[in-house]
Amino acid sequence: MSHAELLARHRAVLPSWIALYYDEPIALVDGQGCRVVDAEGRRYLDFFGGILTTMVGYNLPEVVEAVREQAGRMLHTSTLYLIEPMIELAERIAALSGIPGAKVFFTNSGTEANEAALLLATTTRRSNQVLALRNSYHGRSYAAMGVTGNRGWSASSLTPVNVSYVQGGYRYRSPFRNLSDEEYVRVCAEDLRDVIATTTAGDVACMIAEPVQGVGGFSSPPDGFFGAMKEVLDEHGILFVSDEVQTGWGRTGEHFWGIQAHGVTPDAMTFAKGLGNGLAIGGVVARGDLMDSVTASSISTFGGNPLATRAALATLDYLLSHDLQANALKMGSRLRQGLDTVAERCRVVGEVRGRGLMIGVELVEPGSTRPSPALAARVHRDAARGGLLIGKGGLYGNVLRVAPPLSISEAEVDEGLEILAAAITAAENRPPGESR
Ligand SMILES: Cc1ncc(COP(=O)(O)O)c(C=O)c1O
Repeated sequence: MSHAELLARHRAVLPSWIALYYDEPIALVDGQGCRVVDAEGRRYLDFFGGILTTMVGYNLPEVVEAVREQAGRMLHTSTLYLIEPMIELAERIAALSGIPGAKVFFTNSGTEANEAALLLATTTRRSNQVLALRNSYHGRSYAAMGVTGNRGWSASSLTPVNVSYVQGGYRYRSPFRNLSDEEYVRVCAEDLRDVIATTTAGDVACMIAEPVQGVGGFSSPPDGFFGAMKEVLDEHGILFVSDEVQTGWGRTGEHFWGIQAHGVTPDAMTFAKGLGNGLAIGGVVARGDLMDSVTASSISTFGGNPLATRAALATLDYLLSHDLQANALKMGSRLRQGLDTVAERCRVVGEVRGRGLMIGVELVEPGSTRPSPALAARVHRDAARGGLLIGKGGLYGNVLRVAPPLSISEAEVDEGLEILAAAITAAENRPPGESR
């Protein structure tokens, strides 16, 4: 079936607010390693992995076999029964988390994971007040939208949590952009103290934060930022939740969890996306007392199901035994160097930033800092025409997001860079307003 026919059927029966990439959206039907094929037979190198979710590559035998084997025996039991792969996965994640006495609750998505983390924090602290970062994204439920500081992804003001927003990592347009790293950290921590004193009733439950803001355009504060913020939180007994949905499992290269760049151990971390390499799984790992604070019984019909947890165990095994965190560091710096070189000669690139295999390229009107979503859309489309899938995001929709699977090879990095450099260079050379 052609993309045009699929699009017509999609538009007829699916919500208008499901964001689709490209003016002429595509369907991906096949994949191998870091490459995918669309429904019309076109091939691409995939530097977005279904939103940082195909973490160890498409059609990886180790994961496919684990899923096939489990599917042939038992798909589902519910959490009313003991599930061995769920228990094993919880043991592994608890140990990896670095959180003392950690326990794990599994969900089907990042949204649900954040919802669960907010339940733990608000129950423990007997308060519905929460701090979140500007430019954040935490999901699409009422509480998750409530802590999402990005108008483009926050469809409702209805929320069970009472939120105050604090400074985050998006420095490019911050009033504090010209400060040194140390000054930036100091000023943001001071501002946090002020926000608590002036906009809350004091007994705040938690702060939730992405160490690198994913949807927000891969912006991140200087190392140590969250350490300084946590010192202020600790003055008030406020819990700290790190949303590792995009930054977990070694993607940032230097650390297994994004928050480790800041020298703090959070009270809870949420995860999802890459863990199942495409199977639906998320969860929260938290201090045991925090996890056990929930005062009513709960179940999750699908959370921790045998299929998703088997896939996650196989993914984790592969990731750790192949040291893909080290690969993320190496390939990330190669990508970064290549993009920095492009940025030096292209005035449409305002900033290249990111950590490991999370690289953002902010596109601006040439020679200014004004965001250019039009140029970003053009480069995004031209990259795909050249055979490279990347993501797009940022508060203004003007940031290219480059985040291939952690298993990406050097040759693939170079191939992708060449395509992306050509697309950015073409945007540089075409006058603004000209779209073809
Ligand atoms: C940091 C972060 N948290 C939470 C979510 C929500 O996850 P999901 O789409 O699985 O509900 C996302 C999704 O992009 C995310 O990037």
